[in-house]
Amino acid sequence: ATRVLIAALGLVLLFGTGAFAQKTYVNGIDANYPPFAYVDKNGEPAGFDVDSLNWIAKKLGFKVEHKPMEWSTIVQSVLSNKIDMVYSGMTITPERAAKVNFSDPYYSVANVYAGKKGSGLTVDKIQHDKVRLGVQSGTPQVEWLKEHMGKEGWNFTLKFYDSAPLAFQDVMNGRIQAVAMDAAPVNDAIGRGLPLAVIDTFGEHEDFGVAINKDNAELLELINKGIKMLKADPYWEVLKEKHLKG
Ligand code: ARG
Repeated sequence: ATRVLIAALGLVLLFGTGAFAQKTYVNGIDANYPPFAYVDKNGEPAGFDVDSLNWIAKKLGFKVEHKPMEWSTIVQSVLSNKIDMVYSGMTITPERAAKVNFSDPYYSVANVYAGKKGSGLTVDKIQHDKVRLGVQSGTPQVEWLKEHMGKEGWNFTLKFYDSAPLAFQDVMNGRIQAVAMDAAPVNDAIGRGLPLAVIDTFGEHEDFGVAINKDNAELLELINKGIKMLKADPYWEVLKEKHLKG
């Protein structure tokens, strides 16, 4: 009887100290990056990555809050612990990996040039004919284009955008002629009826990973475990079908 009493007391203590309370992790997202992460019409975070992380959190017993942040300074927000991670279509790059840890890669996309449907633009034209080319600030595409511009004498004018939809808008109204970005948001926009067309791919494909503060080994382990579980679960195919059909 004493033992039972002690066990019961122990449980009460555990609950009381919050040992069973679920931890909440804050995920920084780009609010305008469908199909990976975005804020939907009802103001709710949505997308492939948002659904993935919600599933992982449920399986592994933690809570998650998705917080829209500015993309170009989002790694900085991980470093200053404003957010715990970025699970939002982030490409694993050496520059970022010097500052934050990355989870195992969970998805790959191509880089593409896209223009207005029927524009007649070619890669050659884009790279040599002083085309006004839109890019999203703080992305690896910017670095890649700048590097090649210097080395290979490519000649275009870069115009910087805070989000992909803003760049698409300017392609539509002719302020820029083409965009250079991940294929996924382009295909997503085309899937929703925007008259854009992929012109060609460029560079290498992009591997997406989850960025986490180097001080938080525990979270890195948790996320890697979760990604592994998710990819082995039938829900992974469901998610791809739901978000990445385009
Ligand atoms: N994949 C590119 C990068 O990592 C573009 C990302 C743009 N926004 C986003 N939420 N994934 O910078």
